Amino acid sequence: MEKVHVFNHPLIQHKLSFIRDKKTSSKDFRQLTNEVGMLMGYEITRDLPLEEVEVETPVEKTTCKRLAGKKVFFVPILRAGLGMVEGLLSLIPSARVGHVGLYRDPETLIPHEYFVKLPKDCDKRQCIVVDPMLATGGSAIAAINSLKLRGVKEIKFMCLIAAPEGVEKLRKEHPDVEIFIAGLDSHLNDHGYIVPGLGDAGDRIFGTK
Ligand code: PRP
Ligand code: URA
Repeated sequence: MEKVHVFNHPLIQHKLSFIRDKKTSSKDFRQLTNEVGMLMGYEITRDLPLEEVEVETPVEKTTCKRLAGKKVFFVPILRAGLGMVEGLLSLIPSARVGHVGLYRDPETLIPHEYFVKLPKDCDKRQCIVVDPMLATGGSAIAAINSLKLRGVKEIKFMCLIAAPEGVEKLRKEHPDVEIFIAGLDSHLNDHGYIVPGLGDAGDRIFGTK
């Protein structure tokens, strides 16, 4: 199975062009990241297991399909991952949400964990880790390490923009994790920012710069 997916859907690419644009306001940036999160989520959840249920329509009894068993939980990597969760929840409103808090040291680019809270039955659910940016890959790897340590087995990772360096590192450290990307960019600059990228995702979502 191919483990790295780059979405070339026209709607996703259209919205991504506004997300990248430095003139886009925080309000629009938040709305667009959620919209792309939802569009990506639709594809990413394509393999959720179904079970047959009997339903009585106003006309007759019939057999339908519903999502089976324990379903998914989303894990935004704080802060910026929060910017895509609403969109995903609009697809699956009953999904649980765990959180992993990490910040990347601007000098060393090493991620530091400051918060983890997951659903109690996280080991029985499929997990979708959400972060707009996959740059060096350090944050995604650290978040997935943390999830695996707590028993999470089935993990997917989704981001808006990735650098090839980060994709390669994440593939090497966690070959079992499928990666979903809206835009695969050129490279990282000397400060560990994705080029052309979108700048600092957290600052743009929360207007902190
Ligand atoms: C950003 C981004 C990722 C990380 C990616 O978060 O949201 O989590 O950097 O970089 P990496 O792949 O090199 O680890 P940041 O640490 O800036 O924190 P924030 O979300 O709180 O702004
Ligand atoms: N984090 C961001 O927010 N943007 C980048 O380009 C790299 C890491």
